[in-house]
Amino acid sequence: MKALDQIVVEGGTPLRGAVRVHGAKNAALPILAASLLVDGVCVVDDVPDLQDIRVMVDILRALGASVEYSPPVVRVDARRISQTEVPEELMRRMRSSIFLMGPLLARYGHARVSRPGGCTIGSRPIDLHLKGLAALGSSIDERHGYIDCRARRLRGAAIYLDTPSVGATENLMMASVLAEGTTVIGNAAREPEIADLADFLNRLGARIEGAGEDTVVISGVQSLAGGRHTIIPDRIVAGTLAIAAAMAGGEVTLEHVRPRHLGAVLTKLREAGVEIEVGRDIMRVRSDGELSAVEQVRTAPYPGFPTDLQAPFMALLSVARGMSIVSETVFEERFKHVGELCRMGANIRVDLRTAFVQGVPRLTGAVVQASDLRAGAALVLAGLAAKGTTVVEQAHHIDRGYERLDEMLRGLGARVRRLSQS
Ligand code: EPZ
Repeated sequence: MKALDQIVVEGGTPLRGAVRVHGAKNAALPILAASLLVDGVCVVDDVPDLQDIRVMVDILRALGASVEYSPPVVRVDARRISQTEVPEELMRRMRSSIFLMGPLLARYGHARVSRPGGCTIGSRPIDLHLKGLAALGSSIDERHGYIDCRARRLRGAAIYLDTPSVGATENLMMASVLAEGTTVIGNAAREPEIADLADFLNRLGARIEGAGEDTVVISGVQSLAGGRHTIIPDRIVAGTLAIAAAMAGGEVTLEHVRPRHLGAVLTKLREAGVEIEVGRDIMRVRSDGELSAVEQVRTAPYPGFPTDLQAPFMALLSVARGMSIVSETVFEERFKHVGELCRMGANIRVDLRTAFVQGVPRLTGAVVQASDLRAGAALVLAGLAAKGTTVVEQAHHIDRGYERLDEMLRGLGARVRRLSQS
């Protein structure tokens, strides 16, 4: 008997009201990993209460750090680490734990992780991480599914990333902060979460310049002292809620957001006919539910259209008048939501990494499967605009990126229920 794990959505109700956007998962994860670099206590605030955060807390504890976690505050004391091998079971629960290698190697001269597998959105290679760590002087020994890195002391180096990888930029930035000499990371990723990680580390005594731009310069220091940090708002959650308001119709105010982190998304929403007003840390989204197709949406590294909002935005395009073309240039398998949207009556044809979305007047509710956190969110949003009832199964995927998405939407008047039985 399959455990109940569903989000049930009744379509057709406009959204009204205000909702606060929680802290960014993809800033909190590297910042918690970076606490291993610190010879003191770190207190991190506005950490979202998500499955992946709980796995990261478990990993830090397994390594010997003492961690107090009372959402949204995490307090880490990594002065007494007892081991530098990340337990395989925990690695398997979250592939992005790969960026624990940098801090462990930098502070303790050793890191051993099981090679992360791929996932539903692609093979997720880590060659850029390993090439960068080797350039910093680490030995890399890969066998039996494990990666073992050793370095007496890392030395600064000039590193060029063939792809502006977010994780590789973060891993190598963290590895460099305690290295001897200066490291330059060329073609670095520019996501706001990378600038947030650098802000955190610089507050503790690191010397990082250019984070958030395509060249990051890190001057190694002897050690980092403890300190406090508050995570930036989650731009992907903000974008998801804005798309929900656009699809359901109504008027929604998003609080605790950074509109400037959503430039490409706001442009595309406005092209689709959505009214958006921005303030310093709020966004007001108005829609009558009548949406127009957007000629071309191409995902790209920041500041391009974020791949993490490709699925939610495709849900919007599936009920927008006209033909839209969506190109997914970042991951090779990120169209798993297409089949499920078509079960709801969407008219989408995929050719390799391009989807042709012919808008339909209305979707119809159906039983659909979430395959990853963003595809799952897209199906909930499609349910808001559909006629009848939509049941999104495997809803646990959504909990990895959204803190109680059903509650956030219910707070705006949506008829959404969470049915889960562990
Ligand atoms: C981060 O993943 C995010 N995760 C992802 O969010 C996000 O989709 C992705 O960046 C892109 O923005 C976290 O921050 C925890 P990448 P990451 O390395 O770092 C290739 C979500 O939904 N690549 O920037 O793994 C890779 O194949 C998640 O919250 C290499 O070729 O992404 C991909 O095509 C999903 N070699 C491209 O770079 C490498 O060594 C971008 O990947 C590393 C990556």
